Amino acid sequence: MGRQSVHSLRAMKERGERFAMVTCYDHPSARLAESVGFPAVLVGDSLGTALLGYDSTIPVTLEEILHHTKPVVRGTVRTIVVADMPFGSYQVSDDEALRNAARLMQEGGATAVKLEGGARVVPAVERMVASGIPVMGHLGLTPQSVRQFGGHKVQGKSQADAARLREDATALEAAGCFAIVLELIPAPLAGEVSRALRIPTIGIGAGRECDAEIQVWHDILGLLEEFLPRHSRHFAKLGPQVRHGLENYLHAVRRGEFPTAAQSVGVEAKAGDVLARLIDEINATAP
Ligand code: KIV
Repeated sequence: MGRQSVHSLRAMKERGERFAMVTCYDHPSARLAESVGFPAVLVGDSLGTALLGYDSTIPVTLEEILHHTKPVVRGTVRTIVVADMPFGSYQVSDDEALRNAARLMQEGGATAVKLEGGARVVPAVERMVASGIPVMGHLGLTPQSVRQFGGHKVQGKSQADAARLREDATALEAAGCFAIVLELIPAPLAGEVSRALRIPTIGIGAGRECDAEIQVWHDILGLLEEFLPRHSRHFAKLGPQVRHGLENYLHAVRRGEFPTAAQSVGVEAKAGDVLARLIDEINATAP
């Protein structure tokens, strides 16, 4: 059984089956996500803030997304791996957008790519789809435009903004997107868009009426203890557990309780002979 196709997500919407996605940035996480049964994971540019210590997603480069996409692809067999197109990788020209999307698939092994924006990215989406690249859209609070929005603010609140978002969603579907992320928009608007589209909507901070949900790995697992966006929830508290494990290790070494004989290798008689001979040889050739 090979990797699932992006069409399987649309089939899930048609069957009324909700699904969840999670971001994934490395090999062990990808293996875990697949073993749990996520149909798709996103190598999001959120890796900039979650993993690389940037203060936004803007500094993330295509090389960084590629670097993290490869281990996620190697860690999965069936799961759809969506690679995020970072800031600057699809805005300059449609040619460059196509080239960069192709790199994410060809070099990174991604199943699909995701980019942010509505009507303005439609020509780039059309080029990619015509070239055989599955594309996921992203509307609402698109974090790469956070400087323009003036912060992480809910989008689509005014009637004009809501109308534009509806139009953008319809345009992305018509351009061939197989799904659209809706981030930080009012729940009723997300519900309306979800009902109007045949492709699945994937919400984050967009209420309960989307067809699916996506969350950031480090948020839901409580890895960044001091930070939890309002739209997320700690489904585990790994931060304190990791700290506890690290403290236990550090103290055990300091107190001389680790390693013990159980973690040590004894020198067997035969190996000892070889070692003694080697030492003799070294001594004999020493000046
Ligand atoms: O980069 C990311 O993780 C995302 C999701 C929040 C949708 O774009």
